[in-house]
Amino acid sequence: MSLKIKIKRWWNHKRNRAVVDSLGVGAELWGRVEKRASGSRIQVGSGSRIDGYVVAETETSKVTIGRNTLIGTDTIVDCVQEIEIGDDVLISYQCILSDSDNHSLDPARRKGDLERWRLGTHDWFDVAKAPIHIKKNAWIGARCIILKGVTIGEGAIVGMGSVVTKDVPAFAIVGGNPARILREPGHGGNG
Ligand SMILES: CC(C)(COP(=O)(O)OP(=O)(O)OC[C@H]1O[C@@H](n2cnc3c(N)ncnc32)[C@H](O)[C@@H]1OP(=O)(O)O)[C@@H](O)C(=O)NCCC(=O)NCCS
Repeated sequence: MSLKIKIKRWWNHKRNRAVVDSLGVGAELWGRVEKRASGSRIQVGSGSRIDGYVVAETETSKVTIGRNTLIGTDTIVDCVQEIEIGDDVLISYQCILSDSDNHSLDPARRKGDLERWRLGTHDWFDVAKAPIHIKKNAWIGARCIILKGVTIGEGAIVGMGSVVTKDVPAFAIVGGNPARILREPGHGGNG
């Protein structure tokens, strides 16, 4: 690894450490951690590594990342309400976890969102949101999207490039858009 990358990581870690509310022993914050509201909460457990971007949007946003968990490069964890990621979870590169729609479904209410965004006064009231839970030992492949309200069960696998719109049972393997069960729990050596 080049000295330039090492310095950038060190600098990012130092900046991010000041943002998180709780940081476990040995956790590495090489990517970016951001709070857009001071009341939000971000916790990262021991031995975890954040190479991606974790952002808490509102005063009540709560991001909890367990122990020995990876948030891969260019992965975005965008939290309006609650995103909880358990221990020993692997989230690969270029994924998106988003627990909200970000905008209203009503065009009249969306009008002006850009300007409010510029002013930092975005109104989350009329935006659909629901918590995301990723249970321990789950593995989310590269370029997956996890939508609001989804729970990925313990030990489950989400295949590369999937869009997950519904809960995934523990130890199942899912894939596709929208993600469907490829292998039921207990079949093929997983779970
Ligand atoms: C999900 C995964 C683990 C399954 O691997 P596997 O057990 O070898 O699966 P197979 O290749 O035998 O495919 C089984 C079936 O699932 C389908 N499938 C496999 N991966 C899929 C995916 N990502 N999306 C949609 N369908 C998928 C196959 O088309 C096949 O369908 P069929 O039975 O109708 O022919 C693997 O395909 C995958 O996506 N790995 C993620 C790799 C990754 O993201 N690496 C980045 C670094 S962490």
